[in-house]
Amino acid sequence: MQLPAAQVAVLEAASATDDRTVDAVASEVGESPTVVTRAAFELRDEGLLEVTEQVDESVSLTEEGETYREDGLPEVRLYRAAMDAGADEEAVEMGQLVGASGLAGPEVQIALSNFARKGYGHIDGGAVSADADAAPDTDEEATALDAIAAGDAETVDEDTLDALERRNLVVREERTVRSLLLTDAGVDAMMEGVNVAETVAQVTPELLTSGEWADVEFTEYNVEADAEAVTPARKHVLRQTADRVKDVLVGMGFQEMEGPHVDAEFWINDCLFMPQDHPARTHWDQFVLSNPSKMDDDDMPSELVDRVARAHREGVGEDGDGYHSPWTEDVARGLDLRGHTTSLSMRYLSGHAEGELEPPQRWFSVEKVYRNDTLDATHLLEFFQIEGWVMAEDLSVRDLMGTFTEFYEQFGITGIEFKPHYNPYTEPSFELFGRHPVTDELIEIGNSGIFRPEVLEPLGVDCEVMAWGLALERLAMLVTGAEDIRDLHGTLADLDFLRNAEVIY
Ligand code: PHE
Repeated sequence: MQLPAAQVAVLEAASATDDRTVDAVASEVGESPTVVTRAAFELRDEGLLEVTEQVDESVSLTEEGETYREDGLPEVRLYRAAMDAGADEEAVEMGQLVGASGLAGPEVQIALSNFARKGYGHIDGGAVSADADAAPDTDEEATALDAIAAGDAETVDEDTLDALERRNLVVREERTVRSLLLTDAGVDAMMEGVNVAETVAQVTPELLTSGEWADVEFTEYNVEADAEAVTPARKHVLRQTADRVKDVLVGMGFQEMEGPHVDAEFWINDCLFMPQDHPARTHWDQFVLSNPSKMDDDDMPSELVDRVARAHREGVGEDGDGYHSPWTEDVARGLDLRGHTTSLSMRYLSGHAEGELEPPQRWFSVEKVYRNDTLDATHLLEFFQIEGWVMAEDLSVRDLMGTFTEFYEQFGITGIEFKPHYNPYTEPSFELFGRHPVTDELIEIGNSGIFRPEVLEPLGVDCEVMAWGLALERLAMLVTGAEDIRDLHGTLADLDFLRNAEVIY
């Protein structure tokens, strides 16, 4: 029987003893495990070899694990230093022990958090007491590090391995070990004699010009061979969603706004008729800049500032009534990271961004906003808002609802629900809710309304403007089924999800 060289070598090596692993065969024939695996599968397909698979776990030390194996675990070093300093009799200041134990940088924190857990003693207000009966010489984790380094990981119990893995001192990896065993047909073939058939793996210019290509046998491709998993770059789920949002809105006749991430409170809050003593304007909610801390004159047109101040103090129109609470330009000049992109809408509506705008007008942005919120499954401190507004004569709530219905339908989202809401700058106002495809819960996806005269009059707009801020991340959650916003971006992002999530529009 004639076979390609690699197959012959593998068959010969595998027949030397019965059950051979790919690694053993590879080192015997002097080929890489990949080449041997490929040849083995080809031989299997020809019925000459049986390939059995077994999943083995290998455990190895990380660099940090190796350092602690050599120098001692930080908590053990702390314990020894504490005992030397007599901490079993009387508590010793941590500061004193740091030097004596040689702990440095993050090791100090690591020592502290494991010291008490292991019953080496306790720490109270920075003072360390040691328990004289503790036995660091038989510290299970330290013993395990030695065992793993010596290749005896199987002697270490599961709980200790788990603890070491959580501490990032060991890595456990699964490996598929393949063993090769000749089938009866394989044994027969060997007895009858197998020799190397010349096969060609690569077409060369020489083969082509000489015409030899017509006579040689080409190596077959094994399309079933194991290949390394590759994770090529792809566009982030949120970016895909943002791009799609832009396409949809441009398709609906909107133009894109742009403007600063750091802006004056004037544009963020005052133009929106948010009283200066409104709770949302405290540092509890917004990120305030300390340097620079105030907006330049160029970006705060004085006539507009006066009109806005008057609206706050006295209201607008004939029987308007303002807040009758203090309003100062100094507060309005304060610089913040914008908590919403409605600041951009104010810049455009006032004519400051693009000059006077004649109705009808439609503008949007898909941009980042910043809020001092508490991080949870539906809140991030930085997120993207889909801001938008329409300026036209005779707008009504029906137009607003119709716009959202049309917009969300482009993402396959139907059945949007509306809830009456309050914003200091819109009347009426509505919150929008959508149903999560996995949890079936209603989640808030946006806020909207029709701007009040107290907002529009100072801006010099004398027709209706309906506006909204929608959450891009929430839209992405509805589209992809993600249940936790933190999976999408930030330090806790779920890479597997981001690699595999399908965004189908
Ligand atoms: N600024 C609002 C928010 O961040 C959204 C909004 C914009 C509401 C415009 C009404 C009008 O929630």
